Amino acid sequence: MAKKKPILLYGFVFAAAFLVLIQAIPYGKDHTNPSVLGEPTWDSPQTHELAERACFNCHSNHTVWPWYSNIAPASWLVAYDVSEGREHLNFSDWDHQLKGERLIKEIREVITEKEMPPLPYKMAHPEARLSDAERETLLQGLLRTLNNDSPEKQS
Ligand code: HEC
Repeated sequence: MAKKKPILLYGFVFAAAFLVLIQAIPYGKDHTNPSVLGEPTWDSPQTHELAERACFNCHSNHTVWPWYSNIAPASWLVAYDVSEGREHLNFSDWDHQLKGERLIKEIREVITEKEMPPLPYKMAHPEARLSDAERETLLQGLLRTLNNDSPEKQS
């Protein structure tokens, strides 16, 4: 028994030193949000509000960075989610957003299958958990919003 203690202690010290060291890695530290370039013509304030509650932290340039986004390795996961999220769908760069059938299909899918917001995110953000009714309202609202902004309607 007496011999086991130092090993545990070394393990703990090593883990602590590792956590301190990885804080020096620059990835995920830059939390400056890009400027907002263009937003959808929302069909209603409610759609905007639901999207803001459940989607904007990863799919817009209005990201609110939580305290743990300053601490590696959580910071890496958050930074990755935000950059990947914005790449797929960015409500703040609407003019460059690929719209059309494909996006409509994806949005319908991720909302009805409850894939978005991702589960780990919902555990940390209770406000992003939508009721069935809210999910349906958001989906229909986003579909109307996309329809408002479709190229055919603009010409
Ligand atoms: C925690 C960050 C986060 C939140 C919050 C979030 N998403 Fe995502 N979303 C991602 C990431 C990362 C991807 C790209 C990787 C993937 O498809 O899983 C993505 C992908 C997508 C895609 C593309 C799916 C595809 O098949 O390529 C759609 C559409 C989408 N999200 C919609 C939404 C909607 C709508 C909400 C709000 C109800 C939302 N997301 C909330 C992170 C997020």
